[in-house]
Parts: sequence; C-alpha cells; structure tokens
Amino acid sequence: MANFVALPDIGAKNSVAADLDLGEAINTLRREKNAVILAHYYQDYELQDIADYVGDSLDLSRRAAETDADVIVFCGVRFMSEVAKIVNPTRTVLLPDADAGCSLEQACQADDFSRWREAHPGHVSLTYINCSAEVKALSDIIVTSSNAEAIINQIPKDKPILFAPDRHLGNFLIKKTGRNMILWPGSCIVHEEFSEELLLQMKTEYKGVPVAAHPECPDTILGLADYVGSTKGILNFVSSDPSNSFIIATEPHIIHQMQKDNPSKTFIAARGVSESREAEACPCTHCPFMALNSMEKLYLAMVNNAPRIEMDEDLRLRALKPIERMLEMSPKLASATTQAAE
Ligand code: 13P
Ligand code: SF4
Repeated sequence: MANFVALPDIGAKNSVAADLDLGEAINTLRREKNAVILAHYYQDYELQDIADYVGDSLDLSRRAAETDADVIVFCGVRFMSEVAKIVNPTRTVLLPDADAGCSLEQACQADDFSRWREAHPGHVSLTYINCSAEVKALSDIIVTSSNAEAIINQIPKDKPILFAPDRHLGNFLIKKTGRNMILWPGSCIVHEEFSEELLLQMKTEYKGVPVAAHPECPDTILGLADYVGSTKGILNFVSSDPSNSFIIATEPHIIHQMQKDNPSKTFIAARGVSESREAEACPCTHCPFMALNSMEKLYLAMVNNAPRIEMDEDLRLRALKPIERMLEMSPKLASATTQAAE
C-alpha cells in the first residue's frame, strides 16, 4: 500500500497502569526520544496543554517542516500527520489513534477526484489540505482556510479553477474573490451541525454579541457571522476585538485557547441541531475524529512508536509539490502557532 498507518506490533503495550502519571511519563518520553508534540485547536484540553505547539493546519504544517526533532507526534487527524511526513520524511510521525480521519477526506476519494480532473481539462486544481495524500498528489496547489483567498488572488484571472473538497469553504471563497470556481460537493459533518434557526435564537438571547465562524460552516451561518476565518483567524479576532463576549461557530475545543489568551472574556459555543433535538444528545459540534486521540493513546504511541505514518516515496514526492506551492504562495504570518508554556 502506498500510504498507511503502521499499527503497534503484536505484544506491544496496549494499556496504561492506573497509577501512572501520564503527563510526567509523556514528558520523559518526549525528552528521551527528542520528540515534538503538535496539537490542533480541536484537541482535548489536556492534549493542547501538553503540546509544544498548538495551531491551525497551516501553522502546524510549517512547524512540522521546520522541526529538527526526531519524532513528530501529531495530535490531530490523519491528513495533518500525513502532511508532517510529506514535508519532513526522515522523521518518525506518530498519530495517537490510527482511525482519526476527517469527513472531508472521506468525501473525496482519489479515483473519483482523478475522473473529476480529467473531466475538466485546462483547470487549475486547488485542494483544501483536508484530503488524503493521494488526492494531494493529484492536485496543483494545496490551500488551508488561512491562505486560500491569498492564493486564489495569485492565480491568473483567465485560468479556470476546480476547488475540492469543501463546498462551503469554496462558496465562501467565490464570494470573497469573485472567482467562479467549480466545487467538489463535500462538507464537514461538524460544521454542518450549526443551523440558521438556532444561531438566530442565540443572537436574540445574546443581543449584540459578535459571532465568529469557520468557513466550513454553511452559507446561512456565515451570513450571520461578524467574522469568518480559520481557527487561528478566529483566535486573533476574539483577542483583538473589544467586545467582552463572543458566539463561536466552530469546534468548541478551540475555546480553551481563547479563554487562556483572554481570561476576562466570555465565549459561548454555538449550538448544534442534534443537541437541541435530543435531551441526552452528544455534543455533536465536537469533531468525532479529533476526539479519538487521548492522553493514554498519546503515551502508548510514544512507547510503541506506532500508529506511525508510512508513505511510498513516489507518492510523497507527488504530494509534496502542491504543498510546496502552497508554502511559497502563502503570506508569512509571524509567530503563527501558540507555544506552550514551559
Ligand atoms: P484550520 O486550518 O482552520 O485549523 O481548520 C482545520 C479543520 O479541520 C477545520 O475543521
Ligand atoms: Fe474534518 Fe470537520 Fe473534523 Fe475538521 S472538524 S477534522 S473538517 S471532520
């Protein structure tokens, strides 16, 4: 197989002693293995707190490319750890749970994507980083929610564009840039949870409170937002805006960093539809893929050296090209990640 997650060997450690201090054990392994721990803003609070860097997809891919650590432990989802392996192949890249996927990645299979490209000759293909290494290898330029607009604006006006796999982000970018792109019909199951009706109710309940939303939300939600941007963009917005309270329409684990950076401000998570329908509902605005990682799995991954991203060199080189184009075309943002306190 060209790209896979190597699982722990038979007989590998698969449980943790009840009295083990996980934080201490992870710190010891980090030192012994010369490892760096990267975490996305949607991870559990404990994982964000133990990470060396917490960031959005673009920040973390830059960190992965620049690190001289021998081991990169990626507390995020599989496409993020694949990017770390693509940009820094000599490192061991660990993903605490091998099943941590992404609905956008699932919605865009390489065979279908390849047929789509063939059906649109002469188009430049911009692909959101939330996709598999195989789809990256078939794309011209990778984008994230923080750099997509700036990258589209660098593409010659007469060049037609294909955008995959998130149709909501695609529609948002069409409005922002005025470029008429052909969109792949994928979406994020988490951001699809937000509803116009519930958000309107919340805006009545919390009069005058600004709404910050991720561009993976449907158009109806973005139309009600005061700010739309990547996870890092939302964090910057709530820190710089003078308001005291904010409604946050994205995965609510991001509120942990907001609260740390702005202890006197109040952050209210936008409600999801499933939550409002069922008395004992799951918090369906939580990403079920990100939620698979845990402190126990982080520790076991470091002990077992697995789950580990393995990639065929030919695939890696093909996937690297559109990522390098993205890094070259992205405006440099100073100190993009949040560095964990010592
Ligand atoms: P960001 O790049 O904004 O962190 O988004 C990643 C993601 O998966 C959002 O659902
Ligand atoms: Fe994928 Fe959505 Fe989870 Fe982000 S929040 S990782 S887009 S499923």
